[in-house]
Amino acid sequence: HGADANRTDLMTITRFVLNEQSKHPESRGDFTILLNHIVLGCKFVCSSVNKAGLAKLIGLAGETNVQGEEQKKLDVLSNEVFMKALKSSGRTCVLVSEEEEEATIVEPALRGKYCVVFDPLDGSSNIDCGVSIGTIFGIYALKDVHEPTIEDVLLPGKNMVAAGYCMYGSSCTLVLSTGAGVNGFTLDPSLGEFILTHPDIKIPKQGKIYSVNEGNAKNWDGPTAAYVKKCKFPEDGSSPKSLRYIGSMVADIHRTLLYGGIFLYPADKKNPNGKLRILYEVFPMSFLMEQAGGQAFTGKERALDLVPNKLHDRSPIVLGSYDDVEEIKALYAAEG
Ligand code: AHG
Ligand code: MN
Ligand code: MN
Ligand code: MN
Repeated sequence: HGADANRTDLMTITRFVLNEQSKHPESRGDFTILLNHIVLGCKFVCSSVNKAGLAKLIGLAGETNVQGEEQKKLDVLSNEVFMKALKSSGRTCVLVSEEEEEATIVEPALRGKYCVVFDPLDGSSNIDCGVSIGTIFGIYALKDVHEPTIEDVLLPGKNMVAAGYCMYGSSCTLVLSTGAGVNGFTLDPSLGEFILTHPDIKIPKQGKIYSVNEGNAKNWDGPTAAYVKKCKFPEDGSSPKSLRYIGSMVADIHRTLLYGGIFLYPADKKNPNGKLRILYEVFPMSFLMEQAGGQAFTGKERALDLVPNKLHDRSPIVLGSYDDVEEIKALYAAEG
């Protein structure tokens, strides 16, 4: 009768997080309130993404962001939605967005203890052809009361108290970790609620898929090239792996979490730090991967040990199934 009971006794994301927080007597519901505002942002962006074609939101906004990329209208809209939702939660003090050069220090009247780093719309080159895109976020908490500065987010990823993403795909799925495993929630559009659909996600120990932009192969470092060659031409009698690459990190990581395998955005000769941004891409996804039993590695160290120097710093990243990451770590170690 389990399934029947679940149909009428829904575990919403709010109920789930309230249950989790009740294990911490010091918690006063602040995190639940913050999360509710993030969830509102996700619902807003989900609804805009679904209407993108209709609302003529598709296309360029005519501006260029800090990193010289063309900003899409939906990038701009999503950034605004999350900035406003996070400020109005009254629970944040430092906000860092991919779309803003500087960090925002929240005005004193609205301040709380949480710092939120986020990629409001990830995979935006995929918007115009209807492929899955998402939002990525990571959360730090101030340890004591002080005037907040960017130093409060220039911290290793292992200091995050929570991380997650929302994928705007064939369904809208929010994947969250508060440091006690990973759980996935799917938006029921008729209720407007995220319902627990993927409890306690564990990534398979080994996978059959690798995911990388092979167009960069000419400029790869040695270990990446050697690893991808092994995926295609295994020498131990195992079957070759399948290649899947969407080009939206959220969608590529979501598949990797559920099916297992490995995702790489390595260093290359042109981009010695790879492409993905440490604070709001590499850290949240690495946090989730470790919480699901996988690993995240930069080519030199555990990704969550990195300390960014600047808000938009990048790092090479390899993450996914434990054994698959172990294999590429060995290749980096052999290189010396
Ligand atoms: P964003 O759309 O937030 O700028 O991020 C784009 C990122 C990420 O989603 C994806 O993994 C990667 O860019 C793809 O890059 P390539 O096109 O170089 O493969
Ligand atoms: Mn971008
Ligand atoms: Mn991104
Ligand atoms: Mn983005």
